[in-house]
Amino acid sequence: MRVDLVTRNDTALEWFVGAGLWLLGALVRGFGRLLWWLMCRPLWAFGVLLLVVPTVTGTWLQVLYVVNGVAAFLVAWELTLPDSYSRFFAQPLRRWRRVRRVYRRNWETAMVMSGMAKPGVEGTIVPQLLGVDCGRWADYVEVGMLMGQSLTDYERACPALATSFGALDCRVRADRPGILWLDLRHGDPLAKTIPARPIPDEADLGSVPVGVRDDGKPWVLQLLGTHLFIAGVTGSGKGSILWSLLRGIAPAIQDGTVRVWALDPKGGMELAFGRPMFTRFAAESSEAMVRLLEDAVAVMDDRAQRMAGITRLHVPTADEPMILLVVDELASLTAYEPDRKLRDRATAALSALLTKGRAVAVVVVAAAQDPRKEVVTFRSLFPTKVALRLDTPSQVDMVLGEGMHAMGAACDRIPTSLPGVGYVTVDDLREPQRVRACWVTDEQIVSASRSHSAPVEQLIGVCELAIEVRDEAA
Ligand SMILES: Nc1ncnc2c1ncn2[C@@H]1O[C@H](COP(=O)(O)OP(=O)(O)OP(=O)(O)O)[C@@H](O)[C@H]1O
Ligand SMILES: [Mg+2]
Repeated sequence: MRVDLVTRNDTALEWFVGAGLWLLGALVRGFGRLLWWLMCRPLWAFGVLLLVVPTVTGTWLQVLYVVNGVAAFLVAWELTLPDSYSRFFAQPLRRWRRVRRVYRRNWETAMVMSGMAKPGVEGTIVPQLLGVDCGRWADYVEVGMLMGQSLTDYERACPALATSFGALDCRVRADRPGILWLDLRHGDPLAKTIPARPIPDEADLGSVPVGVRDDGKPWVLQLLGTHLFIAGVTGSGKGSILWSLLRGIAPAIQDGTVRVWALDPKGGMELAFGRPMFTRFAAESSEAMVRLLEDAVAVMDDRAQRMAGITRLHVPTADEPMILLVVDELASLTAYEPDRKLRDRATAALSALLTKGRAVAVVVVAAAQDPRKEVVTFRSLFPTKVALRLDTPSQVDMVLGEGMHAMGAACDRIPTSLPGVGYVTVDDLREPQRVRACWVTDEQIVSASRSHSAPVEQLIGVCELAIEVRDEAA
């Protein structure tokens, strides 16, 4: 009987001890998990500390002072030194939040759903999230590709990746073998009209600023040693590029280093505003426009003969200036001109200028609404191209080069509300760069043409030509 009692007590004790230990273990585990959870969420941890410490120590008032002090310091910092506030506080905080909330949390699901994860021997293999950089307008995510994947796989998945991470669009950038960057844009630095830049004191023909890139850098165009083709549907903003360019080189026009010969087949609608800046201007008669092109060929041939063996790239001077041919609607001369002879002469002159003019500083800048092969036959002879809003992805590839639409040049998706926005290829990047041209108002054009007109002796030539053409027509 006694033995039975002891046995029962021992069993109850063991049960209680066991249950106690289990409870203690569960509590320690739970507390540990809570601590870890808080450590992963420093803002929560800070909040908990704010509640616990003053309650335990009875220092509520002091804590209130500290909190107010920190808040006042941050506000003063942002107001007085916004750049350093953004660089050292706002951006790291944003980065930290986005890395945790958007990328780490959703990475696996996004990769699986967009088809970038692959089945492996031991389950699904997911591309590696190597790092995240957060800019003001975009996040840059470094990705370690899986074996057997290529950049093209990610380029194809871009729309899905953009949706998965709540971005406006996604572009792929190559890094080193096996590594790429996803540029996920969540804001648009080009959404607002960019006002025209002031006319510089000195023109740099190798780098004329005409707008802004979506990475915040200035968008510059080279004139020396190249030809420029601007394609975009009507109202896409071709005029703003032409005028930004002309204003950017205005000092060189004024001192005679650049002579602009302008052709406006639309009867002067685009270029007539700036007539005093042009050494020669033809707008109404196709004959006058074609003659102007042929005269440029003559200048080019003469210069090429004289400079053969002396230089490979002529640097313009006032005596031997750059002849800059600006053609507002190229197709009007080469495709839509009803007179076949004139059309053929225009095509022949332009082909010659585009193949031989570059080295002797006879440069063509041409705009066209329709870049198709049957309309602009010599598209590929322009080394520098800008694609604004276009109708179809194939037109984008026609202007910028095969595969550029897939690489992110979504000209067919530029809304009509963003004239002047387009894509270009730039030297330092394999991928197309999104840009927006500065907007030059009519008043700014008129005032530039007054303050930076071509030298008078050149303008006399314009009048002579006009009289000559008129007399011939009569
Ligand atoms: N860079 C720009 N920023 C803001 N608005 C612009 C810009 N460029 C053009 N716009 C707006 O879009 C309108 C049409 O622009 P623009 O005349 O330059 O187009 P376009 O491509 O030359 O058209 P078209 O082929 O019919 O001549 C302008 O009147 C202006 O209101
Ligand atoms: Mg125009």
